[in-house]
Amino acid sequence: MEDRYGHRISYLRVSITDRCNERCAYCMPGELHEWLPRQGILSFEETLRLIRIAAELGVSKVRITGGEPLTRNGVLDFVRQVPHVPGIREVGLSTNGTLLSRPAHGTATTAGALREAGVDSINVSLDTLDREFYARITGRDLHAAVIDGIDAAIAAGFDRIKINTVLMRGRNEDQLIPLVEFAAQRKLLLRFIELMPVSTNDVLTEENFLPIATARKRIEATFGTLIPEPGFRTNGPATYYQIPGRAQRIGFIGAMTNLHFCDTCNKLRLTCDGKLRPCLGSALEFDIMEPLRAGASDEELRAFFLNVVERKPQQHDFRENYQPGRKMIAIGG
Ligand SMILES: C[S@@+](CC[C@H](N)C(=O)[O-])C[C@H]1O[C@@H](n2cnc3c(N)ncnc32)[C@H](O)[C@@H]1O
Ligand code: SF4
Repeated sequence: MEDRYGHRISYLRVSITDRCNERCAYCMPGELHEWLPRQGILSFEETLRLIRIAAELGVSKVRITGGEPLTRNGVLDFVRQVPHVPGIREVGLSTNGTLLSRPAHGTATTAGALREAGVDSINVSLDTLDREFYARITGRDLHAAVIDGIDAAIAAGFDRIKINTVLMRGRNEDQLIPLVEFAAQRKLLLRFIELMPVSTNDVLTEENFLPIATARKRIEATFGTLIPEPGFRTNGPATYYQIPGRAQRIGFIGAMTNLHFCDTCNKLRLTCDGKLRPCLGSALEFDIMEPLRAGASDEELRAFFLNVVERKPQQHDFRENYQPGRKMIAIGG
């Protein structure tokens, strides 16, 4: 699948729930959150069918996300089936990490069960090593559980564990170096992400926005000039650098300040309520649940996907006074 701007679509991010056991301020707006009703969520069978259709059209990588994907009942049985979809070569999962160390049926930990299920890479969100501040950002005192979760993922034998840190001026700026050291000790790939106005406009203000360039300078003040690694890519838009004198590499995801951010976009998103979104930073979304439940054939669903790809914008609208229509938690980051 290729759009009008030459973006080749090979990556589908699949949100399987809008529910979460945390309440990150930048993801879930403060007002009372209303969960989607059960029948408004794609069943796992429906989701697998759409992954199969996407794979027939050239998608080879799937990332399972949410909300918090590990809060959905039956998630492990679902995840087990994804690597068996013909054409899917890589399966990732994004999580807040709080449930990774929880015992799972037949294995010591959920992380172990995910590894056995064929998940290749795990992304864990962690914005701070300070327990109190963690509780303030996420609304839950679960910092210790996240660290246990990361250790469970390491023990389970994942070789690609990424830590994603959202940058917040004046809030976790003092955490940059401790997080680099934490990642070094555990051999994790740390990435710093610019705050995006995904959920509400008020989470992103001049006062709390910290550009990746500033974060990089802070890190360089301690470690020296970072060495660009343009040849190293994961599957997304991060740019990577090596820390001088170390084998450690860190990444920066500058959705707001990197003007070439969208050039290499290879993604489509499927929300848990069955909407296909061609771009995270655009209000465009197309309801595929409706034709799916009305009995559409594979052929018709393939045509639906191609139509959505055809409408993929050249770049996101975040810099254009974007008005969020949907909360991040309901899109799937
Ligand atoms: C929506 S979460 C879903 C998966 C899982 N619950 C987690 O926290 O990793 C995916 C990612 O989106 C990021 N995120 C949420 N809201 C954001 C925002 N306004 N700007 C930048 N990143 C955001 C989170 O930090 C997280 O890394
Ligand atoms: S970022 Fe992840 S953990 Fe935080 S509220 Fe959103 S879905 Fe939950």
